[in-house]
Amino acid sequence: MTLHNDIERVLISEQEITAGIDRVAREVTQAYSGQDFTVVSVLKGSCVFAADLIRRIPIPLELAFLAASSYGDGTVSGNLEINFFPTGNEIEGRRLLLVDDILDTGRTLHRVRAELLARGAMDVRTCVFLDKPSRRTAALEADFRCFEVEDLFVVGYGLDYAGRYRNLPYVGALKSEIFAKSKASG
Ligand code: PRP
Repeated sequence: MTLHNDIERVLISEQEITAGIDRVAREVTQAYSGQDFTVVSVLKGSCVFAADLIRRIPIPLELAFLAASSYGDGTVSGNLEINFFPTGNEIEGRRLLLVDDILDTGRTLHRVRAELLARGAMDVRTCVFLDKPSRRTAALEADFRCFEVEDLFVVGYGLDYAGRYRNLPYVGALKSEIFAKSKASG
C-alpha cells in the first residue's frame, strides 16, 4: 500500500503543475526584474512549491522562511501562530514575496503581510500555488497564483492531511473513508 491508494482522484497532474509554475515564474521574473527581492517561504506547506518556483526564476533573489500554522490537525483553519525566521535586517527596507501553498480564508497571509509591513518591509507581495476564492474571509488576493481550486479538501505537493501526503508529486482529493477512519480512531 502506498499513499496513492488513499487518493480518490488526481486534480492537478505533475505535468499541469510544471506548466503552471513555469507561467508564474515568468510573471515573477518580469515583475522583479532589476530589483532586489527576497522569497519568503511560509512553512511547512510551501516548501515544495518554493523549491520548484525559485529554480525557474533566473534573476538574483534571496530566500527566507517563516512558520504560520493553525492549531490542530483538522481541515478547518483555527487560531494562528506565527514564528518569523527572517531576522530584522532580512525584513526592513526589503521587497518580500510571500510564497504559500494555498490561499484559503486568507487569514494567514493577511496577518503575515501586515506583520512584515509593520516590521519595516518596503513591499510585500504574495504568490500562491493554489487559490480557493470561495473560502475567502480576509481582504487579500494573491498577486501571483498558479491554480484556482474548488472548495474541496486537497492534498499533495506540500499540502497535508494530519501531517501526511505532502510528498505526493500531484494534487489530489482524498478518499472519504480516510477522513472517516481518522475520525473513528481520533
Ligand atoms: C495552511 C497553508 C496556509 C494556510 C492557508 O497552513 O499552508 O499557510 O493554511 O489558510 P488560510 O488562508 O485560511 O489562512 P497550515 O496552517 O495548514 O500549516 P502547514 O503549511 O504547516 O500545513
